[in-house]
Amino acid sequence: MYVLPVLCVLYLLCSAPTSSQDWPLDCTPRKTVPYHSVDGKLFRENDVWNYTTMALREDLGLIILGTRGAIFALDINNINNKKASVKWDVTEKQQEECTYKGKDSEIDCQNYIRILHGTDDGRMYVCGTNAFHPMCDYMNYTDGQLLLQNSQEDGKGKCPFDPFQRYASAWVEKELYSATSMNFLGSEPVVLRSSEDQIRTDFKSSWLNEPNFIYMDHIPEGENSPDGDDDKVYLFFSETAVEYDFYHKLAVSRVARVCKGDMGGQRTLQRKWTSFVKARLECPVLESQLPYLVQDVFRVCPAGLTTCVFYAVFTPQMDSSDYSAVCAYSMRDIQHVFTEGKFKTPVTVETSFVKWVMFSGDLPTPRPGACIDNAAREQGITSSLELPDKTLQFIRDRPLMDQEIGPINNRPLLVKKGAAFTRIVVASVVALDRATYHVMFIGTETGSVLKAVNYAEDNTGETFIIEELQLFQSSEAIKILRLSNSKGHLFAGSEVGVVQMPLSSCGRYKSCGDCVLARDPYCAWDLTAAQCATIPSPAPADSKLIQNLQNGDTSGCPPPETAKLVNRTFVPGNNVKLECEPISNLARQEWFVGEAALVLSDKHHFHNDSLMILNASAADAAVYSCWSVERSHGRKYRRQKAKYQLALRTNGDGRWVLPTSPQARSSHQRLVGLQILVVLLSVTLALLVGWNFYKGHLTLPCKLGRGQTHTDGSPGEAPGAQQPLQHTEEKTSAPAGNSNNNHANQENAIPMDGHAPEEESVI
Ligand SMILES: *[C@@H]1O[C@H](CO)[C@@H](O)[C@H](O)[C@H]1NC(C)=O
Ligand SMILES: *[C@@H]1O[C@H](CO)[C@@H](O)[C@H](O)[C@H]1NC(C)=O
Repeated sequence: MYVLPVLCVLYLLCSAPTSSQDWPLDCTPRKTVPYHSVDGKLFRENDVWNYTTMALREDLGLIILGTRGAIFALDINNINNKKASVKWDVTEKQQEECTYKGKDSEIDCQNYIRILHGTDDGRMYVCGTNAFHPMCDYMNYTDGQLLLQNSQEDGKGKCPFDPFQRYASAWVEKELYSATSMNFLGSEPVVLRSSEDQIRTDFKSSWLNEPNFIYMDHIPEGENSPDGDDDKVYLFFSETAVEYDFYHKLAVSRVARVCKGDMGGQRTLQRKWTSFVKARLECPVLESQLPYLVQDVFRVCPAGLTTCVFYAVFTPQMDSSDYSAVCAYSMRDIQHVFTEGKFKTPVTVETSFVKWVMFSGDLPTPRPGACIDNAAREQGITSSLELPDKTLQFIRDRPLMDQEIGPINNRPLLVKKGAAFTRIVVASVVALDRATYHVMFIGTETGSVLKAVNYAEDNTGETFIIEELQLFQSSEAIKILRLSNSKGHLFAGSEVGVVQMPLSSCGRYKSCGDCVLARDPYCAWDLTAAQCATIPSPAPADSKLIQNLQNGDTSGCPPPETAKLVNRTFVPGNNVKLECEPISNLARQEWFVGEAALVLSDKHHFHNDSLMILNASAADAAVYSCWSVERSHGRKYRRQKAKYQLALRTNGDGRWVLPTSPQARSSHQRLVGLQILVVLLSVTLALLVGWNFYKGHLTLPCKLGRGQTHTDGSPGEAPGAQQPLQHTEEKTSAPAGNSNNNHANQENAIPMDGHAPEEESVI
């Protein structure tokens, strides 16, 4: 009953523009797809948990799944088809050592597969936490089998010790880049390139300060760079800020990057990054005082590397609110800050307090943190080993940029109250208008995935949530999302299983209006087949397909069918409920009696999916129709969803009704109580009378002949008990017919008054 008002409040919260920023509209998902209605496949194995590491091998037609103690190879087209699996358990000795160090043997001292990358020679690189003793190995898939090569590589600095700690990694050519903690306590964060010349970050809080690593990505910027620039590896994380005066520890989101060709310095920064620079990443939500923290990132490069966009989900820190957000960052903006921006520098104020302010002096050349490019080569510097000490010392002490990196359009793409966002992937699809749309799939803490689109190619338009799909039970957070754009599948992992889901299920939209209003770039209404179907790729030019993503304009649709007339009868004095399922969460209902619009009153109550007529009387007999009305860009789409002929019940009709409202039920219970009392009193009376007969105080009236057999003590069968009961039945069954059918249509009418009939009248 309260769903509608709550939805309205949410809708207002989401769509009301605030003074400082226009809010993304419509943060209520248009449709909600419940758990059992999702068109998905679930994979889980008995006694296997933590399905939270995944690698797609589209080349092999596989999805490789890392869990606790095992790796699986599943068919990418159907995850229920298990191709192979291999166990990788901890040894007893390792488990003992881990337990001895104070860790829980069942939880911590297991082998959680955390790193899975395809290598360039067709194999895979795998690491596991291995009872707080991380190890890595190569694995290949040959003849339908997964084979671990047992190469026993130390995983320190590559894979976390602690299975609960977040980390990030990327495989670039022959090398693993990793961001994790390299000690048992988890207190030594590192960004590491594992190769013969291992390069890592310095152990300084100005480099990494209690970081939470999120995402790492290789961008081959060097490929066609006119400046002879290098490839880069970007890292997204959050950490405790050094640059703010705040009485608490304040966390901020960051993006950092290193150059692929970095070899470290000769004297200064030996075997350390000379190109590690970082900047604050901002996602401004409301007038929130505390910065939001990045939780996951996905990169999309629509037309080459210069157009790359990072989509990131953010949640508040210290539970300061219950909003989550998506912000998108253009790589150009990030590059601009790193290559042109000013640096921050620490200054000591008073005696020991350090404040970070903008560095306004002259920068050494080559520019600190820059990759080796043509300009450096012209100066005779061909590798980071040849960089001058001045440049290296500068970057060693000042890896933080002064300027922060803001999102595209300076505001979030999406802000939503409710379950926290956990992960994001973004699919690209060419729609009927031949434009490419980026469809966000956002995982939440409560096991659902939101499907949302911004309809402007540059992400400056309106964001719309097409649907929310409940993939797991609400207690199961989405811990990983992977996308196969070419196969059209989404893979979502949680601690209990993996779900494979198609990127669209157009068949769920049953009418042209519903299909067009969905504004799903994958779906269009096929006028010939009269169904909502996936757009073929490439989109046909001259087909009978209707899609209108920008406005959800349904005017091309054939006129919607009207609803079938349903006959309903009612008993005067009862409540009548007429159902009407709205088309979507954004639709409203309008009810009509004949031609006249119904308005809310003491008598007529509108619910989300029904109309309630209280205390119906003969005057309420009429034709009622319900219209679902959905607005999209100022246009209204109206569709008749239900039509009822409501009539007074005739005497012979013989159907009546169980009370369902709590109020009615309690009055009903009172009546039952009264009845039992009457029965008990009657039984007592009967026993008394019987005793008197027995004693010969009274003579037997011949009228009661059939009921005279002696009672066996059961009150229900006491002959005298019939009289008051018959009386009750006579009195109450008159308006409503007999009670045999009392469950037949309990939703139709609900007795509210004390004269309602009782189902117990036949005993
Ligand atoms: C693994 O899954 C179990 C069962 O859901 C859960 O209790 C545990 O916290 C998970 N472990 C990690 C490291 O996430
Ligand atoms: C897989 O491993 C086996 C045994 O180590 C090796 O003979 C084979 O060449 C490998 N296959 C690939 C594709 O690397």
